[in-house]
Amino acid sequence: MTDGRIYQGGWSLNEVAWDEFDASKVDTRLLAAVKAASLVEYNAPDYVTYLSRVFRDGPTQTLNDLERWGQEEIQHGLALGRWAEMADPTFNFKDAFARFRAGYRPAHFTSEDAVSVRGSRRGEMIARCVVECGTSSYYSAIRDATDEPVLKEIAGRIAADEFRHYRLFLETLNAQTEADLPVWRKLYLAFTRVQESDDDELAYAYYCANVASTDVTHTPYNRLRYARAYNATAMTLYRRHHIKKLVQMVAKACGLGAQSWLTNIASAALWQVLRLRAGNRALGNA
Ligand SMILES: [Fe+2]
Ligand SMILES: [Fe+2]
Repeated sequence: MTDGRIYQGGWSLNEVAWDEFDASKVDTRLLAAVKAASLVEYNAPDYVTYLSRVFRDGPTQTLNDLERWGQEEIQHGLALGRWAEMADPTFNFKDAFARFRAGYRPAHFTSEDAVSVRGSRRGEMIARCVVECGTSSYYSAIRDATDEPVLKEIAGRIAADEFRHYRLFLETLNAQTEADLPVWRKLYLAFTRVQESDDDELAYAYYCANVASTDVTHTPYNRLRYARAYNATAMTLYRRHHIKKLVQMVAKACGLGAQSWLTNIASAALWQVLRLRAGNRALGNA
């Protein structure tokens, strides 16, 4: 469970108690999930470049916030990658990341177009809020699931950062002078952003992180197969209270009440979906 520590922002890798690492407490299922997460986190500069284009003529403060946010996401990737290399000395973080970056290049990352693929800056901020809700819940779940002291600390530090990122993007969303979006449109944007992660990013990261470069010839990438592999490891980490908080945070970003009937139904439905995805293997109601 949680170690009860509260982590402040602006931490550095040197503050992590790396020498408390305990190899006997490494869970291989968690290790596979952490390896995949390290690659997605470290890929933040592409998101910073894209969002900086979308907010090109926006307030300097927003552009500075995006830069700082990107640096924190990079540090998440470095922390998780370093831990994964300690836990599995055959894992090469930089090599796995190079393969991930070469193969995962969505069109809006490479375009010079300043137009948001979500149709507006508000839409873009809702999508970011959804991602930060997901990551804050995910690292909270990893923190609570692991007994390995260094991973517990790293996941706790990252979960706190992700929650601060959510608040940053929610404030940025609410500061936009564009007309507000109808609730159905906000929900549609939230749903499509979740689907986007499902589509390729996490599955391909899981593949690059967990299939060694020497094995790719006889173990080619298959999106469905590695999406299932990712789900089988990641989805079993969540407990009911992680999902409840996740849905409440997404609901707030979409302009719904955290305790509304729709939010409660969505929370119950998502929990059932995760149970199905996880194959009912390790999910409890804790
Ligand atoms: Fe992150
Ligand atoms: Fe984040």
